[in-house]
Amino acid sequence: MTAADTLATLGTDGVTVRFGGLAALEDLTLELARDEILGLIGPNGAGKSTLINVLSGFQRVVAGRVHADDRDITGRLPHDISRLGIARTFQAVRLFAGLTVLENVAAGFSGRPVGRRAARARAQEILDWIGLGDKAQSIAGTLPYGDERRVGIARALATGPAFLLLDEPAAGTNEEDIPSLMSMIARIRDEFDCGVLVVEHNMGLIMGLCTRVHVIDHGRTIAIGSPRAVQDDPEVRRAYLGEDEM
Ligand SMILES: Nc1ncnc2c1ncn2[C@@H]1O[C@H](COP(=O)(O)OP(=O)(O)OP(=O)(O)O)[C@@H](O)[C@H]1O
Ligand SMILES: [Mg+2]
Repeated sequence: MTAADTLATLGTDGVTVRFGGLAALEDLTLELARDEILGLIGPNGAGKSTLINVLSGFQRVVAGRVHADDRDITGRLPHDISRLGIARTFQAVRLFAGLTVLENVAAGFSGRPVGRRAARARAQEILDWIGLGDKAQSIAGTLPYGDERRVGIARALATGPAFLLLDEPAAGTNEEDIPSLMSMIARIRDEFDCGVLVVEHNMGLIMGLCTRVHVIDHGRTIAIGSPRAVQDDPEVRRAYLGEDEM
């Protein structure tokens, strides 16, 4: 049994991140449970990607801690966090453009005790599951943007995560393809037994998919609640004034 089999929660306690004089996150506490799809929303520059970076070991904190269950994982490096069962995608997709789709997904196994053949077989299974099985031999750099994002998700799933952190999975996706993306994310939670954190500006996706929504602005929490409750929250509405998302 690996740690990923048993992890039940992932979160931050009072985390602060600074870039020079700017506090990108300030005393921020977030909790993600294994059985939920948690939405993380906020205006541009609110600190959403920074928070995913903190949870996945890509960003150091100046105060506070990151925990998986009651284990303190603050300051652990990305590969170490990944091995614990925490996987992520990037806001700007990072695929190996010259490699095939299959090779990109199989790369999710790098550093693990999985042979090359087994990695490729499992990668093909995940691609079939995600609906990209017929593109396994395509060169990643030739894919439409929406498919690229799904390959990023497939690669994250290849690590067998307990938690999956998605940074704007709907970016570049046509509005008519949003419902299938939503049902795919819901199935990830159910079939991969995986807690999901989803950062999105697409409010239809957040409101239709998430069990709970955490709203931040200027690096601080301004609301946590059901999709309906945060949508009606005056402070959330104020934060989004001037933006048309809500
Ligand atoms: N590496 C960095 N160096 C300096 N400032 C940074 C860095 N990364 C992020 N920031 C700043 O920190 C703040 C939070 O950025 P972050 O990318 O986390 O926001 P976001 O909520 O993901 O925004 P968006 O919705 O536009 O993706 C912004 O003001 C951003 O300019
Ligand atoms: Mg971002």
